[in-house]
Amino acid sequence: MNRISNRAAVSPTADARHLMFDDLEKLGRILVETGDVAHGFIQGADDMDVTCRDFSAFDPSRPLSGQGSGTLDALRAAKEEILPLLAASIGPRYLGFVTGGTTPAALAGDWLASAIDQNATGPEGSVNAAVEEQVINWLCDMGGLPHDRFDGVLTTGATVSNLLGLVTARQWCGERIGVNIDADGASVLPDLAIFAASPHASMIKDLSITGIGRNSFVKVATLPDSEETDIVDLKAKLDASDARGKIVIASSGTVNATDFDNLNAIADLCAAYGAWLHVDAAFGLFAALDDRRAHFLAGIERADSVTSDGHKWLNVPYDCGIFLTRHVSVLETCCRAFAPYLDTKADGNSYINRGVENSRRFRALPLWMAIKAYGRDGMAGIVRANCDQAADLAAWVRTHEKLELLREPKLNVTMFRALGADDDNRALLDRINATGKVFLTPTVYGGHFGFRAAFSNWRTQDHDLVIIKDAIEMAL
Ligand SMILES: Cc1ncc(COP(=O)(O)O)c(C=O)c1O
Repeated sequence: MNRISNRAAVSPTADARHLMFDDLEKLGRILVETGDVAHGFIQGADDMDVTCRDFSAFDPSRPLSGQGSGTLDALRAAKEEILPLLAASIGPRYLGFVTGGTTPAALAGDWLASAIDQNATGPEGSVNAAVEEQVINWLCDMGGLPHDRFDGVLTTGATVSNLLGLVTARQWCGERIGVNIDADGASVLPDLAIFAASPHASMIKDLSITGIGRNSFVKVATLPDSEETDIVDLKAKLDASDARGKIVIASSGTVNATDFDNLNAIADLCAAYGAWLHVDAAFGLFAALDDRRAHFLAGIERADSVTSDGHKWLNVPYDCGIFLTRHVSVLETCCRAFAPYLDTKADGNSYINRGVENSRRFRALPLWMAIKAYGRDGMAGIVRANCDQAADLAAWVRTHEKLELLREPKLNVTMFRALGADDDNRALLDRINATGKVFLTPTVYGGHFGFRAAFSNWRTQDHDLVIIKDAIEMAL
């Protein structure tokens, strides 16, 4: 009985490996054909519907098949069954959330990262850690952060970077009063207080993940008609708190109004009250590349930790987040992974000890390629163009008799709505997106339902603005 079932288990596996070796022989052709399919999709993103609204043709319950049919067949199936049902989020008129596209160099770097498949844990036997170190220095330069003081790690996204910010800050708060949360748990600092005016949804999620609790932050007031921290209220709240550990969460580019906090004023308060300053600059960090807006970030070098993203404004593929801190040794205390089998002797940064993951993708490579290919000026060009596009759309909305602007855009997001009831606006958003020419996402601002047009893609051009305005006009 055993012999029969063993034989049955071995032979299909051997067949399947045969398919893989077969594919290895054809790899050149597979890569070329995959390149052709990808190229077709990328070029077609200008003309296809920006989002797919009906993907019922794809059956998620299709049963698992025992035998495969090789990569070229799988590629054909993906081309027929999956690609036509995708969003053109890589294209120029996907304005939902804050969605970066992919520059050609970043795409090439990302493909290469998959092809060479390094496990980017650290410097053992590979230059990947040194590349990550270089990229982090370049990112600091782009964001106006002195790289002799800031160091960090590439993450899966800003949500995880915010998580690292909270965890590192909490450990630092504990160390200041002689307790060790890393070893003994969060209960040794029960009176930790978090102060935030406009925390991003990811930060609230991170409060849950860290066990601090979604509701366990002190809500600081914002300035009138703004998402910016009210410094007077922050001071009053810090003053009233007798918590032994204090963390202030500031924003450099809120997701709706793209407001920037007064970081110098907040850093002064943090210094006075012994608080850690974490700045969420998921996309706003790169406003530093635009000389018309770099002043928004004044004081960011005084932050204890900073969150940003590569997959937003730097237009590298998912996933790529950035976490930077002046206290990398505290980060390493929280994230270190020790076991005899991990105890290697190579010189250099061990990124396994700086983040959530142990095994990790070589996500420094797409960034390295993009920055090498286009330089600081290329990245600045994306930021400037997208800000101009948000301003252009706002100018059009301002003069339109049926539309109203919810806020003057400071950066790359235009928030607007049609005059009238919220329910009518909900229906209008659906009609705008149903045109297939543009994709906007909803928001609530100043008590009103409205739309966000977030320009974050290098491919968006003037003629796209014409198409976007026509689509809105058509839906009105
Ligand atoms: C200000 C801010 N912080 C954090 C995030 C979360 O980023 P991610 O989706 O990369 O985790 C976003 C996403 O839009 C954001 O705008």
